[in-house]
Amino acid sequence: MEDAAAWYEIQSNPEVVRYLDWPLRDAKESLEHLKHRTQHTVLLQAGDFLALAIESEGIVVGDVSLHLRDVRNRRVEMGWVLNPAHSGRGYATEAAAAVATFAFEHLNAHEITAVIRPGNERSIALATRLGFVGEPEEMLLTRERFDSRPALAYLTNETEATTGPVPIVWPQPTVS
Ligand SMILES: CC(C)(COP(=O)(O)OP(=O)(O)OC[C@H]1O[C@@H](n2cnc3c(N)ncnc32)[C@H](O)[C@@H]1OP(=O)(O)O)[C@@H](O)C(=O)NCCC(=O)NCCS
Repeated sequence: MEDAAAWYEIQSNPEVVRYLDWPLRDAKESLEHLKHRTQHTVLLQAGDFLALAIESEGIVVGDVSLHLRDVRNRRVEMGWVLNPAHSGRGYATEAAAAVATFAFEHLNAHEITAVIRPGNERSIALATRLGFVGEPEEMLLTRERFDSRPALAYLTNETEATTGPVPIVWPQPTVS
């Protein structure tokens, strides 16, 4: 459990849990929570979920979760959490977009929901960037809205290292 300290940093931050159902956890509770989270690796029936780590330079800085809610209607729900020390750089948006792509392309999800507490403006902003619409308590994302979301300026570390600060377009244009 080499990610225990990084996860505890997130779990013990009142700013993180302010709009979540999660309690503030001490180190032991945080470790149990992390272990529990990593044991969910299949999506077979309603209630199953995956939690996919967001990493920066090999450190876990958050995660995006994908919950199977309704198999017949192919509905899934997403959640996201990020260490505030890494906020404001697009990491959570990029990770959530990757999970939404996975849900639409590999699970053939028809819609993705996000349940957000009113007032959780950063989370609402993230959902809106991905194309979610609706009231915060149940925002909805369809494939069509996801695919037509506006492109965002996006700059990876690698790009910056090789080209200097020249923004490229995200989603990246495909090369034919
Ligand atoms: C919700 C949460 C994950 C959002 O974090 P965030 O830092 O705002 O999200 P991102 O990492 O995507 O960063 C977005 C910011 O980076 C900027 N950005 C830079 N490059 C970007 C890019 N390529 N793509 C998207 N945003 C980019 C955005 O403009 C935005 O800037 P702003 O801070 O001025 O608004 C975070 O606030 C959090 O963990 N909250 C606590 C947990 C929680 O409530 N989760 C929601 C449960 S429903």
